[in-house]
This record gives sequence, C-alpha cells and structure tokens, in this order.
Amino acid sequence: MTIVVTGATGQFGRLAVEALLRRGADPQDVLATGRDDAKLASIAELGVRTAVADYDDPASLRAVVEGADKVLLVSGSEVGRRVAQHGNVIQAAQDAAVSLVAYTSIPKAQTNTMVLAGEHRATEELIAASGIPFTFLRNSWYLENYLPQVPTYLEHGVVGAAGDGRISGATRADLADAAAAALLADDSAGRVFELGGESFSLADLADAVAKASGRDVAHTEVSGEQLTEILVGAGLPRGYAEVLADADAGIARGELEVTTGDLERLIGRRPTTYREAVADAVRALAPSAS
Ligand SMILES: NC(=O)c1ccc[n+]([C@@H]2O[C@H](COP(=O)([O-])OP(=O)(O)OC[C@H]3O[C@@H](n4cnc5c(N)ncnc54)[C@H](OP(=O)(O)O)[C@@H]3O)[C@@H](O)[C@H]2O)c1
Repeated sequence: MTIVVTGATGQFGRLAVEALLRRGADPQDVLATGRDDAKLASIAELGVRTAVADYDDPASLRAVVEGADKVLLVSGSEVGRRVAQHGNVIQAAQDAAVSLVAYTSIPKAQTNTMVLAGEHRATEELIAASGIPFTFLRNSWYLENYLPQVPTYLEHGVVGAAGDGRISGATRADLADAAAAALLADDSAGRVFELGGESFSLADLADAVAKASGRDVAHTEVSGEQLTEILVGAGLPRGYAEVLADADAGIARGELEVTTGDLERLIGRRPTTYREAVADAVRALAPSAS
C-alpha cells in the first residue's frame, strides 16, 4: 500500500509522515513529496520514499500518484492559487483511481465565510465532484499561530478583533496525528472530521499567558480596521494583515469553534490544550522573560 503525502516538506506534512510511521506504517509504503529536493532529502532520513511533485506541474503529480492507494493532500501555501493547484492533485488522483484522498480543510468549510475558507470550500467541491472516496480533515487553527507571539503578548498584551469568539486550537502535531490515523483507518471514506482542541477566546489566551508567566497580560479588543493597521505597522504586508483581521471576524462568528470531539476520538488521547502549549512556550523563553 502506498500513501502519498503532499506538502511533506512543510511543517504539517512532515509531522504527518512522522505520525504515519509512529502508527506503524511501513516506511517504504510512505511516499513523501514536495517541490524542493533539498528539503526532501531531510525527510528521506526518516526512511520513507521521497519524490519531487509540484502542485503546478501535473506531470510530476501524475508520476507520484500513479500506483498509489491513498493521498494526503496538504493544502498549499500560495493563497489565491490553491484551487487550480489542488485541482491538479485531484486530477492525478482521479486518473490513478486511488482509494482515498484526505484533504486538510477548514472548519465548517461549506458555510465558513472567512476569506481563507473560499479555496478550501472550492477544493472540497472539486474532490466531491471527482468521485474519488474522500476524507475531509477540517483543521481549526494551529496553536502555533499564536505561540511565537508569546513574547509580544508579554510586552503588549493580546490584541485582536475576535470578540468573544472561541478558537478550537490544536497543535500541528495533534492535527497531523489525526490525519495519519484517518489515513490508516479502513473506514475513513466519506467522513468529514471537524478537528480542534479545547476552545479559547483571546481573553482566555491572555489569561493563559498571564498565569504561565506570573505577569499581567491584558486582552485588548480592537476593530478589524484597527487590527489591520496595527499589523501593517508591525511590518506585515497589507493584504496579509487584512486576511488576519478577516480571520478574527470569522472567529467572532464562531467559524473556528469545533465541538465534535473528532480530534480526541481520532488520535485516541486528549489533545494538547492551549494552556499546556502556552506554558511550554513561556518556559522556553529566557528566564528573565517569564
Ligand atoms: N490550520 C491553520 O492554522 C493553518 C495555518 C497556516 C496554514 N494552514 C494550511 O495548512 C497547510 C499546511 O500547514 P503548514 O504549517 O505545514 O504550512 P507550511 O509549513 O507552509 O507547508 C506548506 C507545504 O505546502 C507545500 N507547497 C506549497 N506550494 C506548493 C507547490 N506549488 N507544490 C508543491 N508543494 C507546495 C510547501 O512546499 P515548500 O516546502 O516547497 O514551500 C510545504 O511543503 C498550509 O499550506 C495551509 O494551507 C493552516
């Protein structure tokens, strides 16, 4: 059985490969793919097979998917180009008559109105229309979206435009483990998993940083426009800042809150919580900062 993992050179993809191996997959059954030869060399050290495949190069995709049983399609990182890119992977998977495509999507993809959800919705629709048996792994936010900002939170507090909205954040590692579990299970076809950990608001996040550090950490609510300007002032490109502000608006509408319990069921253990991840991030800082 060959399981192709796309985007294996990225953070999630590599963790998914590692989780497949931990869950007992034969390394020779795992074909880790990406567009960068040098990055693939580091994954080859895990003992898995590797091959170059670029979402923009249908021939490269056909070559890696041919003869495969299952494909983990890790959503690409080039926002705005992803539907066509994912479409190339889906076409290759359809031509190869694979038995399963698992796709990393976003919670409530069919109704989620966040800007970022559009490409996920369109990809899910392409997969469904292809007739390939599929599993949708609708991942809520990575906790790692927040953890690198812990030093900023300690200095300026948590600033956001998400209101009381709750984020069912989970570590990349837990979400990647869920992907591996779904790929290795026999009953994943046709299933849609809404995946997230214990939910928190931005006020809860500030509280977690405060408790872990013993310092005062405020939560400040701003408008979406204000958040955009703050992020631009911090050096982010305007387009990206607008996408992040739009994501906060989606959080305020509850679009990243997941209450299914699918993550815990899939991985068979309690996922890491935001408080645990924040405490680890605070501990990892220089002693003077915590
Ligand atoms: N749930 C969340 O909070 C969240 C947050 C951010 C992103 N995401 C989504 O989840 C995906 C995985 O997350 P991540 O943290 O692993 O992101 P990442 O580290 O940026 O990895 C993205 C992967 O996609 C690959 N890729 C991009 N364009 C490609 C192309 N044209 N052909 C082949 N491969 C291509 C990248 O290859 P290279 O190594 O060559 O760049 C990399 O392997 C992201 O791409 C994004 O769609 C989710």
